[in-house]
Amino acid sequence: MSAKLIDGKYVAELTRNQVREDVNHWVESGNRRPFLQVIQVGTDPGSTTYVRSKTRACEDVGIETDTNRLPDTVSAKQLKDLIRTHNENDGVDGILVQLPLPAHLSSHDVIESIDYRKDVDGFHPMNVGRLAVDQPTFRSCTPAGIFELFKHYSIPVKSKHAVVVGASNIVGSPMAIMLSRENTSGKATTTICHKFTKDLTQHTISADLLVVAAGQPEMIRGEMVKEGVVVIDVGINRVADETSEKGYKLVGDCHFESVSEKASWITPVPGGVGPMTVAMLMKNTLLAAKKSIYPE
Ligand code: GUN
Repeated sequence: MSAKLIDGKYVAELTRNQVREDVNHWVESGNRRPFLQVIQVGTDPGSTTYVRSKTRACEDVGIETDTNRLPDTVSAKQLKDLIRTHNENDGVDGILVQLPLPAHLSSHDVIESIDYRKDVDGFHPMNVGRLAVDQPTFRSCTPAGIFELFKHYSIPVKSKHAVVVGASNIVGSPMAIMLSRENTSGKATTTICHKFTKDLTQHTISADLLVVAAGQPEMIRGEMVKEGVVVIDVGINRVADETSEKGYKLVGDCHFESVSEKASWITPVPGGVGPMTVAMLMKNTLLAAKKSIYPE
């Protein structure tokens, strides 16, 4: 089998077009524009790139945005005081603190200081807890984006064996919750694998749906998957490449060449999952502005 490509760039554009239309309608009905407050601590180049793509997406769909750029020496108190001012500001609908944070700051502590009604990343324990008990919530953007891809390509999830590789709070863990629960369009039999899993291949080889978010370049190879598997590769890793001008290339957590020979569907890297994360952030910000999840 040779895999068909899941075009996240295209589906993200459709999603953003829909959000732009909904934002226009919201504003034409007499409401102010949704507003996303972004906070970046430090100057990590990866974070700077992500923040830029998020603020550009806001401009693209008509969501207002501002970025607080803080030095990596900022104290927990200073950061949380700033978050508190945004929590109390009725003109701010969504608050996003770009991760990772410098080592002296606890991301758990910082995330918990965000008003859960403005937590458009879906990282606050209130929102993760509601996801776990199958209640409407801000769903974290990458897993929510993957579900949009399943929907767009009519890829069935119900009763399939879904295997998630990687158990991070940002992707793997909420993805596994969403796959396994009933109200969040999952209903899959779900296995979650992580760095303590013995014999990873034993699990990946039986997957109908394989979601890989481990941050390990090309760790999943063709011989580890079965014929016809649907593969969602969340990884985006820089590896040295002397033939490229930049001196590096981007690869996923899957060895694309060998895995795509056996898969029925696969996401490319880049252009697969990444653009969907940003599109879903726009959707969540509009939900926050409309107070759709937590009515007043
Ligand atoms: N760092 C990597 N992915 C994300 C994300 O989706 N949201 C935030 N806030 N930080 C991230």
